[in-house]
Amino acid sequence: MRYRRVKGATEKIERLQAYFVTGPEEYRGRWSEVFGNDHPLFLEMGCGKGKFLTELARRHPEYNYIGVEGQERVFLRAAQRAHEAELSNIRFIGQFLQRPSECFGPGEIEGLYLNFSDPWPKARHAKRRLTHHRYLEEYGKILKPGGTVAFKTDGDGMFEFSLEEFRDFGATILEISWDLHASPLKAKEITTEYEDKFREWGEPIKYMKAVLNK
Ligand SMILES: C[S@@+](CC[C@H](N)C(=O)[O-])C[C@H]1O[C@@H](n2cnc3c(N)ncnc32)[C@H](O)[C@@H]1O
Repeated sequence: MRYRRVKGATEKIERLQAYFVTGPEEYRGRWSEVFGNDHPLFLEMGCGKGKFLTELARRHPEYNYIGVEGQERVFLRAAQRAHEAELSNIRFIGQFLQRPSECFGPGEIEGLYLNFSDPWPKARHAKRRLTHHRYLEEYGKILKPGGTVAFKTDGDGMFEFSLEEFRDFGATILEISWDLHASPLKAKEITTEYEDKFREWGEPIKYMKAVLNK
């Protein structure tokens, strides 16, 4: 992996190295070795600057967390947060991941988070949406039976598209809200950077939690 684009990135990477997993394919089926324990493992695809995942990790030392983020400037911020909070139960994969099943074994993931995934509004880019059935098939391979996918977005179109993809996939929707913060659902307790921004602008946050594999 190359980090040269960002000024001072090399020094930062050295300091934050312990939080990054390079060559994640090597750990497929044996992530417990990375953490030194076999606690349940949760994954966030597109974790951004890591506000949501680091807070989850802080509240739940009994679980392990992996954030995947392809943008260098952004994933460095996420690792910085983890470092400042002295977390030992979180790691990051600093790349755009197209096929999570190449990095995680069957049933290795307990639960998956998708927060404000890029909507790719043009129809011809639909395959890039992290809730496209191509990705759902990938998640289905790595989630344990009964494992959940939790998804938040501000976009009505992205939410409707995703709901249809989940239903066509045969997923069971466990929780759903078109205005999460006006609902009693616990998913509103920990927010993401994008969620805070959209809430400030008065946008209702759409949310669902589903089981892909019964
Ligand atoms: C709109 S931002 C949302 C960030 C954060 N989840 C939040 O709610 O504040 C979406 C992020 O997902 C990342 N992303 C999109 N597709 C990805 C992929 N396949 N692998 C890793 N990161 C991805 C983008 O780089 C971007 O930082």
